Amino acid sequence: MISNVLNTLDTTRPQAIENLKSFLRIPSISTDPDRAGDVQHCADWLAQQLVESGLSAQVLPTGGHPVVLARNAHVPGRPTVLLYGHYDVQPAEPLEQWLSPAFEPTIRSGAIYARGAVDDKGQVWAHVEALRAWQRHGGIPINITMLVEGEEEIGSAHLADFMRDHRGALAADIALISDTDQFARGVPAIVYGLRGLAYMEVTITAADHDLHSGLYGGAVPNPANILCEVLATLHDENGRVNIPGFYEDVAPLTDAERAMWASLPFDEPAFKQELALETLCGEEGFSTVERRWARPTCDINGLTSGYQGPGAKTVIASKASAKVSMRLVPNQDPAKIEAAFTRAIRERCPANVTVEVVSHHGAEPVLIPLDSPAVKLAAEALQVGFGHPAVFIREGGSIPVVSLIRRILGIDSLLVGFGLTDDRVHAPNEKFDLNCFYNGARTAATLYAKLAGLK
Ligand code: BES
Ligand code: ZN
Repeated sequence: MISNVLNTLDTTRPQAIENLKSFLRIPSISTDPDRAGDVQHCADWLAQQLVESGLSAQVLPTGGHPVVLARNAHVPGRPTVLLYGHYDVQPAEPLEQWLSPAFEPTIRSGAIYARGAVDDKGQVWAHVEALRAWQRHGGIPINITMLVEGEEEIGSAHLADFMRDHRGALAADIALISDTDQFARGVPAIVYGLRGLAYMEVTITAADHDLHSGLYGGAVPNPANILCEVLATLHDENGRVNIPGFYEDVAPLTDAERAMWASLPFDEPAFKQELALETLCGEEGFSTVERRWARPTCDINGLTSGYQGPGAKTVIASKASAKVSMRLVPNQDPAKIEAAFTRAIRERCPANVTVEVVSHHGAEPVLIPLDSPAVKLAAEALQVGFGHPAVFIREGGSIPVVSLIRRILGIDSLLVGFGLTDDRVHAPNEKFDLNCFYNGARTAATLYAKLAGLK
């Protein structure tokens, strides 16, 4: 009975928090090769927890970090739900900006602070608690296959091969993912669109060693100057991305969608205040919500050259480099955008430097149809879990697995996330409000019961 399950979730909260803290203490930073042991340990720990929850669980190798694959005993005739999450996290730097250390989860004013608190360990754990609660009341009412990967934050590069190799084991009627946010505090959301990504790195090299800026300056190419000049060409005066072909495949927003978003209770003054910004900016002709959810971008994410230490050093560095992320929207193709970016950068650099452009990772933009019975059930579950009707939104972030699930397994995903927009994902002091965690677990438990009636 769902009411017993929800009761159990309410009475086991202290233990749930302790469990989540153990998960958060493991520094499973996927991008850092020095942390590979921690990433592996995190997968092992999670699999062990799932076994203790009565599931069968395995840690399976991929070409990169391992995948945790778990399931309950599938009962023929019941709907099968592929529950996806990721146990890897982003780096915690800059460490000195954390009020409590990134891997020492700490509770302050009703939230748990740690790297991965909401993205995505806390949301995965909300599901684990929901599964455990069902196990104490006669078992999970649906067939669950759980796929928790360790490379989401680095683009899920090895997941497509893994999914092809395990297509049979992953077969499901629907996928369920909690790795997104509510629309606002107390206003839960079903996300039906995500932006894609093309992440590039540009390195410009001139002389083969650093040069005294007095002895050589003015007579030699300066890679840092050149990089800045080239990067400055990437936008025009209207905030549009200035790369030939960039907008070619962009699906225009429909009037209906624009109207739906305009009716959402988006609080722009509060948004600015939360970021300590006086004004916002972006592509002309679009609202803030539209800019974040449905327009493509090109943003420098890292910029390195020359002296970075305290004080001044008079030097012309031999190299300058930039990391650039481009967020993509339907129907842009990451490979095509990578090629267009590379071409534009090469064409705009002078002949007296060498230019290297590499592509790091990508993700396809996605749109998920809203007219399925599962979406309706998810909205009902969110209403139960959060006590407020769900809204239907897109988000600006990317989750590479969503398009893989569509392409390889032929099913859609339900993006039912429990985060808040002020959770500081990928930044210092990432948090997850405990209420969101509890309401998330309640939503998950309710949704399993509702999905049991799917066919
Ligand atoms: N959970 C986020 C994405 C997200 C957060 C979507 C909030 C919507 C709302 C996810 O872990 C993430 O950060 N993805 C990366 C993917 C990339 C590395 C391919 C991203 O968007 O930068
Ligand atoms: Zn993330």
